[in-house]
Parts: sequence; structure tokens; C-alpha cells
Amino acid sequence: MVIKELVILSSLLVIIIKCEPNYERIDCNSATFLYPCRCLNDPRNEAKVETINCTGGPLELKQISQELNDRLLGDRKYPKSYKIQKLVIQNTPIQQIRSKVFERIPFVEIIIKDNHELHYIDRNAFNGSADSLEVINLIDNRKLAEASHTAADLWILLSKFVKLREIKVTGNGITSIPSHAFRSVDGQRDRLKHIDLSHNQIHTIGDFAFEALTSPSLDLIFSHNKIRTIGKNVFRFQESREVIRMIDLSHNQLYSQSFDVESFSRMGRPLAILSLKDNKMDALSEKTFGPLFDRSDKNYFVLEVVGNNIHCDCPLGWTVRTKYCYTDKSVPVSHQIVSLKCGPKSISQYDFSYCSQMEERLSPSCRTSGHNTAIPLLQTNHKLFAFTIMSALIMFSF
Ligand SMILES: *[C@@H]1O[C@H](CO)[C@@H](O)[C@H](O)[C@H]1NC(C)=O
Ligand SMILES: *[C@@H]1O[C@H](CO)[C@@H](O)[C@H](O)[C@H]1NC(C)=O
Repeated sequence: MVIKELVILSSLLVIIIKCEPNYERIDCNSATFLYPCRCLNDPRNEAKVETINCTGGPLELKQISQELNDRLLGDRKYPKSYKIQKLVIQNTPIQQIRSKVFERIPFVEIIIKDNHELHYIDRNAFNGSADSLEVINLIDNRKLAEASHTAADLWILLSKFVKLREIKVTGNGITSIPSHAFRSVDGQRDRLKHIDLSHNQIHTIGDFAFEALTSPSLDLIFSHNKIRTIGKNVFRFQESREVIRMIDLSHNQLYSQSFDVESFSRMGRPLAILSLKDNKMDALSEKTFGPLFDRSDKNYFVLEVVGNNIHCDCPLGWTVRTKYCYTDKSVPVSHQIVSLKCGPKSISQYDFSYCSQMEERLSPSCRTSGHNTAIPLLQTNHKLFAFTIMSALIMFSF
């Protein structure tokens, strides 16, 4: 009996061991066939390749891909779970990344950086990663968006990865963000939380460019571009209560007339931080920016305006009249405009007493007209008035 069980057990073990990796082990320390790329094994599973990092050249991606494919898998069917965590193509003389070079290899993260001759990535270059890719970084490939048709392909490429969490496309000379830019091929974009398109040459953003993005705590970074206009349908999202954490428009060419009056009034989602740092704003119109303060939930809204030349006093009176500028302690933290230079002292960063500080700086003529903070003041005055009358009456009665 015991022997029989042992036999069964050991044959089970053999089967398990045999089934385990149905891909070949690649020992990255001696994997010269990948040159000029190098690989790193996964520390948790030595048989698996974790990272492929290609630097220098000449680089034949098709060949690298073929080698990996043959050695990892031979003739076997691809094991569904096999993914390579990271592909890095950095500082290579590569000029193009052609269609389907990585047709069969799923990556989780792709980093393409500092390739100064790279001017084209085919929309199907990484089609093996359509269901696996979570992070894509295209950084400082200066010629990548030079021709408009190659730039157009870039947006199509991005739309193919349905599981993306993070897109960073910076320093590639992109000049515009097309309408519906972040729609994915399957229409789902509930994982994409972080989009960084800073340090390009973007001057226009198309309508509904971000509409498909439904993830909570979304960050949209457009700093260091050449944005001059924001149309009324640029920041339109699918109706939801999920907060957009940040829209960063700092270091652009925005001036007061750059914004359509409806730019922020029909966003469909609440926004926590809008940065207009280092632009050319000289005013903040109530019609345009008022709706951002007037949130239906009770969370804060921060508007960063340092590095502009905003005329203070009466034109900003409306900011202390908005719904959350109460002195009433039962209402949570009020909205704030940070680092606003008004007079010699700027209202400092993350200063939660914006409303009272701002109030002090408004001229008397624009302080009065029915703002909320006036209510407690008025009540105090009433009490004072009543007190005076009472005392007078008491005095008289003597
Ligand atoms: C890839 O390898 C190069 C050369 O060793 C290194 O400088 C670079 O930091 C690596 N890149 C990444 C993203 O790991
Ligand atoms: C990659 O492209 C080929 C040819 O267009 C197609 O047959 C294949 O299904 C694509 N793979 C994925 C994962 O989309």
C-alpha cells in the first residue's frame, strides 16, 4: 500500500515538475544572442526573463524578437501567463520600429527613451502586448512626432493597449492632442490614471480628448507646452462623481482669453487641483473659473496661479463669495487659490485661510455686495446694535 502511494505521489511530482515552465530557461548572464540588448532574470522565478534592456547598436529588433521567441518557446504554444515585465530601448541608433516586431511577446512595461534617430513607431509594432501593457514611456525621442502622419500613428498605437495604467509621452515634439485621443479600441479606459504629455510642443487639444477616461484620481499633466486655447469641449468627461486629481497646465501660453467660458462648467466630474502656474493670466473670470469652486461635494479645490500677473482686488472679489468661503467651521476646508500675489505679501501655498486673507485685501467698495463671510459680520453688528440700544435704554431708565 505504502509503496503504491509513494509511486503515485512521485509520478504526480514528476508531472508537476514537467508541467511547470513550458518555456525554456534563458540564463541572462550568458545570453549573448540578445546583443546589444541584455536581459535580467526574474528574481522570483529564475527561468523567466524579467527585463530586456537595449542600449547602443546596431540594433535589429526583429532579430532580437525572433531569438527570444525561438528560445523561450521553441515550437510550443505560448503559455498564456508568460509576460516579460519590461522592455527598454534606450540610446540606440534605431530609426523605425516596424509593424509586428514584437508580435508574440507580451510586455507589461515599455520604455523607449533618448533614441535621437527614431522617427517612426508603427501602430502595430507591439501588438503582442495589446492585452498586457500597463505602462508606456516614450521619452526624449526628439524626431518621433516630426511628421504629422507618424504622430497620428502614435495615437493609434496608444489606443491599442487596453490595460494601460500610465502613459508618459514627453520630449517627443508632439504638437497636438487629437479629439477623443485616449479612447481605446475596446472603449474601456477605467485603469488609466496617469497621463503625462509635458515638455512637448502641444498648442491645441481636441474636443473630448479625455472623455473616455473614467478612472478615479486621474492626473493629466500638460506642463511645458505651447497651449494657447482651451475650447469648451476639451475637458468633458463621462458624468461621474470620481474626482480628477489634477489638471496641470503650468508653463504654457495661456492668457485670460484663452478659455472658453464653458471650459470648466460642464466637465462632468469634480476637479481637485488646476495648475495655471507660469502662464500669462492677468485675470480670473468668475464665469470661467467659478464653476470649479462651486463643487457639489464638500472637498477642496485648489487653483495654482503663481507666476502669472493677476490683477487682484475687485476682479477677484467673487472668489470670497463662493459657496465654500464660509467662516462657518461646519463646512470643511474652503477652496483656495494658492500663491496668489496680491499686494506685497502673497497668499502662501496651501494656506487654508485664503478667504479671510483675500477679504482683507479687497477694497471696501467690492467687499460688501452680499458675500457669505459678511453674514456673520452682519450678525455681530446686529448684536452690537442691539447691545447699544439695550444699554441706552437701561441708561435712560435711570
Ligand atoms: C538600460 O541599460 C543602460 C545601460 O546599462 C542603463 O544606463 C539604463 O539605465 C537602463 N535603463 C533602464 C530603464 O533600466
Ligand atoms: C497582431 O497583428 C496581426 C496581423 O494584423 C493579427 O493577426 C494579430 O491578431 C495581432 N495580435 C494582437 C494581439 O492583436
